[in-house]
Amino acid sequence: MPDSEPDVRAELKALSLALAAHADILQATGVQELPADPERYLPNLGDGPLPKRPQEVGVAIDVVSESPSVAKQAPAAELPAASAASALHDPEGPSGPAHAAPPARDENDNTKSSKKNDPVAPPTAPSAPARQAISEDAALRLPVLAEEVTGCTRCALHEHRQQTVFARGTGKSGICFIGEGPGADEDAQGSPFVGKAGQLLDKMIDAMGIDRDDVYVCNVVKCRPPENRKPLPEEMAACIPYLNEQLELIRPQVIVALGGTAVQGLLDTKLGITRLRGTWKLYQGRIPVMPTFHPAYLLRQPSAKAAVWQDLQAVLEHIGRTVPAKKPRQ
Ligand code: URA
Repeated sequence: MPDSEPDVRAELKALSLALAAHADILQATGVQELPADPERYLPNLGDGPLPKRPQEVGVAIDVVSESPSVAKQAPAAELPAASAASALHDPEGPSGPAHAAPPARDENDNTKSSKKNDPVAPPTAPSAPARQAISEDAALRLPVLAEEVTGCTRCALHEHRQQTVFARGTGKSGICFIGEGPGADEDAQGSPFVGKAGQLLDKMIDAMGIDRDDVYVCNVVKCRPPENRKPLPEEMAACIPYLNEQLELIRPQVIVALGGTAVQGLLDTKLGITRLRGTWKLYQGRIPVMPTFHPAYLLRQPSAKAAVWQDLQAVLEHIGRTVPAKKPRQ
């Protein structure tokens, strides 16, 4: 009807303006394509921290819960996580080769990428170029923090330790492994994951095609719990500010949480590792976390290695590294 035409045009114009405004909001919050499942993927516009730079869309990641000991986290599972990772620390900008966006993924399948028709699929070069080393500020602050930890008496664990165990590795690969706490070997040597479980961790890192020294490795608590018991909640709470600062300085692209205690410390959840392993989560609403089994568990249960390898493959894909064909030896 000719009479209604102007109204239709005005309505269309208003609609397109609204769509453009909506697209602006999505872009400002790091989303650059429309969500596959609006209920799940709509960006959260609440008071959680926003990504620091424009981001590319990545995998769907769940935030388990908010940690009281850390800065306020995004309250729900909506941040495009891969992009959150790649937005940090990128000398070449978010579209640079080191941080080309990981592919959009099927949320139920952490192991497959969807490179087909994906204009921002990660490079499949032998390995992604090395990331920028940590910032100058971080390089200055980390040794000071390590020194502070050396004298820490915040919880009773200091009474039994031979020495504190701060971290090892540069984190240059963008990957940070976090364990529970030092054991006897670590307590003796002052470095994390140097015992049997550590040797297995090194094999896993090697199987990923990454140099042992290029990952950052640390623990939720920095002192050995007596008899290798699990750290108590109050011990973890006392120590977690150190871990938070380490992560703030290192700014990993992705965290691999080794075992239930690491996951619980990082994500402040009571859910167990069996339930959480292989499912992407977010630390502080911005750093993707892959929970997986602890290498000490793998020593007792070698059949679980296949699941861990699957998780590590997902991590490699997430940061745009080629997944080596070989599997870690059983
Ligand atoms: N287990 C851990 O969780 N961390 C270590 O450093 C060693 C063993």
